[in-house]
Amino acid sequence: MSASGGHGDIFNALIRDHRRAAALMDRISHDGGDPEARDALFFQLTQELEVHAIAEESTFYAALRDHPAGREKIEEASCEHDRMKAILEELADMSANEETWLANFMRLKATVERHVQGEETELFALARELLDHQQGRQLAQDLQAEERRLKKAA
Ligand SMILES: [Fe+2]
Repeated sequence: MSASGGHGDIFNALIRDHRRAAALMDRISHDGGDPEARDALFFQLTQELEVHAIAEESTFYAALRDHPAGREKIEEASCEHDRMKAILEELADMSANEETWLANFMRLKATVERHVQGEETELFALARELLDHQQGRQLAQDLQAEERRLKKAA
C-alpha cells in the first residue's frame, strides 16, 4: 500500500496493470512450446501493454509533464514505451514457431521489467512529491476510464 494512500490511487492502479502484464509474460515464457497458446496470450499481452501505455501517457505522464521537475523523467519513460511498442510490432510480424521468437520475447520482457522497475521506484517517488492526494485519486479514475474506453474501441 502506498504512503500517499489507499487502493484508489494512481500508484496502485498502475501497479495492478504492471502485475497483470508480468503474469502474462510469465505464462508466455512458460508456454513457449505451444504456439497456439502462445499466440493467444501474446495477443492479450499486446492489448494490455498498448492500452496501458496510451492511458498512462494521457493521464499520469501528462500530469507530471506539467511540472518542470517531471519533464525529463517523463521523456525517458515515453521513450521506453516507444521501444516497447517497437518490439511488440517486431514480434507480431514474426511467425510463432520461429526459433528467434522466444529470444525476442525475452528482450521485450526485460524491457518491460526495467521500465516497470524504474517507474515504481524513481518515477513514483517523484510523483509523490509533485501530486497531491486528490490528484492521485483523480488520476486513477481517469486512467481506468481511459483504459475501459480503449479496450471497448479495440
Ligand atoms: Fe509505463
